Amino acid sequence: MSTTALNPERAGTEGPSRRRLMTMLSAVALGAAGSVMGVFNLIFLRPRVTYGSASKIRVGRPGAYSPGSQVVLPDARVVVRREGDKFLAISTVCTHLGCTVRTTDIGFDCPCHGSSYDSSGNVTSGPAPKSLAWYRVAVAPNGELEVDKRQVVAPETYLELKV
Ligand code: FES
Repeated sequence: MSTTALNPERAGTEGPSRRRLMTMLSAVALGAAGSVMGVFNLIFLRPRVTYGSASKIRVGRPGAYSPGSQVVLPDARVVVRREGDKFLAISTVCTHLGCTVRTTDIGFDCPCHGSSYDSSGNVTSGPAPKSLAWYRVAVAPNGELEVDKRQVVAPETYLELKV
């Protein structure tokens, strides 16, 4: 039983203060919830992608490649090769469903569904529908070879250098 029920003179004095307290607590709770939502909205709106640099990969100085050598870059999914004074970069992404192909003595094999490619990336057995992509190779300002994965070039497009 409340004191208001026992003492009618106090009736009405507890109600407003309790109401005011509840109003203040509600306002604080709403303010806190709004602040948290605002922070998460700002985090959500902030872009999480990076543009530009990831498509260009520096793969070392041309002199580091002996004629006939190639380097497999698993993370970049690229093979860089030197043929005489010519440099090339071939994607290791299978054109069937995107598995990473493995290099072999005569080209590339896909472990997923058995496609094979010759050393230039041409399909020799399916189900791959088309050849592996060739990427543009250039010399970066610091003298290293640079593969640009955004620039697909025609097969047999080389960077020729006198090394
Ligand atoms: S993903 Fe390479 S053959 Fe299917």
